[in-house]
Amino acid sequence: MIPTPDLSHLTPEDFEEVYHPAEDTFLLFDALEHDVGTLKGLCPRLCIETGSGSGCLSSFLAGILGPSHALYLCTDINARAALCTARTGAQNNTPLDPVLTSFASPLMERLKHSVDILLFNPPYVPTSISEASAAQDVSGGVGIASAWAGGMDGMEVTNQFLAFVDGLLAPRGLFYLVAVAPNNISDITTRMKDSYGLKSHIVLERRAGREHLFVIRFARPESA
Ligand SMILES: C[S@@+](CC[C@H](N)C(=O)[O-])C[C@H]1O[C@@H](n2cnc3c(N)ncnc32)[C@H](O)[C@@H]1O
Repeated sequence: MIPTPDLSHLTPEDFEEVYHPAEDTFLLFDALEHDVGTLKGLCPRLCIETGSGSGCLSSFLAGILGPSHALYLCTDINARAALCTARTGAQNNTPLDPVLTSFASPLMERLKHSVDILLFNPPYVPTSISEASAAQDVSGGVGIASAWAGGMDGMEVTNQFLAFVDGLLAPRGLFYLVAVAPNNISDITTRMKDSYGLKSHIVLERRAGREHLFVIRFARPESA
């Protein structure tokens, strides 16, 4: 059993603005733990989490793989989340490198086909389109709504990121995505196969309250 990262340095005020790890986060922990042999077998050098929030997920991954074996880049549009991510890395001796940006946009050219492990627990809750747009608007400062407001079918933010995945993934790279039933899992997997040739596998699924959560792993067909 891999220990959950220590978040005791984060305050209630931090969690007013930054996503508090919840069932979705823990399902992704469990999926990574489930795949630990495969992940170690990749000997990853570069891991990216987009939407790192508190940083606990990347800290957990670094705990699995060894903090000095890979670079752990963590992006978020929420400035307080980026700060929390850095502090969580330091608190757990798992150095994390936060980047305040949307998705991995400014890194795309430099990181083309070089990301070994890619993680995204996105804002997946179905909301109005305007709610999701407001939550993504960085001009007035980003708050907690960026953690959950997903627009139509809860897929508006995720869909934008899905367009980056093929360009980022290394030949043997793996992408882990959290989704909920209203996001239409089979539609996501079909689109990723038809558009980019990526195969998918549901690593874990779990009911948590009203949510039916999934962790989907994507890979190139030629990878293990
Ligand atoms: C559901 S929370 C997940 C937080 C953390 N990864 C976890 O699992 O506990 C979603 C995170 O995505 C971030 N986010 C939303 N839109 C984003 C975007 N366009 N680019 C990067 N991060 C984004 C939010 O600010 C939030 O921190």
